[in-house]
Amino acid sequence: MECSGAISRPSSAAPLLVLATVAVALTVLVSTCVADPEPVQDFCVAVPRAGDAPAYPGFPCKPASTVVSDDFFFAGLAVPGNTDNRFGFNATLGNVEFFRGVNTLGLSVNRGDFAPGGINALHSHPRATELVHVIVGRVLVGFVSTSGKLYSKELQEGESFVFPRGMIHFQYNAGNVPARVMTAFNSQLPGVLTTAPALFGSDPEIPDEVLAKSFQVDAGIIKLLKSKFKK
Ligand SMILES: *[C@@H]1O[C@H](CO)[C@@H](O)[C@H](O)[C@H]1NC(C)=O
Repeated sequence: MECSGAISRPSSAAPLLVLATVAVALTVLVSTCVADPEPVQDFCVAVPRAGDAPAYPGFPCKPASTVVSDDFFFAGLAVPGNTDNRFGFNATLGNVEFFRGVNTLGLSVNRGDFAPGGINALHSHPRATELVHVIVGRVLVGFVSTSGKLYSKELQEGESFVFPRGMIHFQYNAGNVPARVMTAFNSQLPGVLTTAPALFGSDPEIPDEVLAKSFQVDAGIIKLLKSKFKK
């Protein structure tokens, strides 16, 4: 992992300026050093931990002497996901929780199946940039940058698009036949924050007045949205 962040050294500046500089430098360091760490060995096939989800930076390694070819093999993406749900979409995950061989290797892969008109609804990945590659169909994709600009494209079979880390994005089957994509991530566990459920289906709930004020609408609209996303 490359961690950029050259810290300039003010020589005769006032203490406040020094503090401010350190604060800015720390912010830069933190914001540029959150990618998966570099591996320190050939591989580290993940051993599932009992109980809780894995803690950063990952899972413990299976003893190297017991590692076999199948630990680097994953057939999970060969099986279509069932898109018979309200979004007409299904993501099949190939992150470290399912594909143990990618542990510590800084990447993972998913499959996305879309019914006609199906959507992989607005979401973001806090820990990974994502590349989407269309295998079958026509897929409208896009992300919004921090300056509020939408970058979007309708992809045909064989075409790719990239969503920079953390940007809110979507994929929508613009065709009238099923579509299929493969997505690659530069993290073994990209994490996903799905926008609408995060805002309207959190537990506990975000207070109605906070959402109403944030979205500049009446509380009734917030209640309606919450009814759609309550767990
Ligand atoms: C996705 O597909 C799998 C495999 O068919 C199925 O078990 C799962 O319930 C589906 N998920 C959704 C959200 O429809």
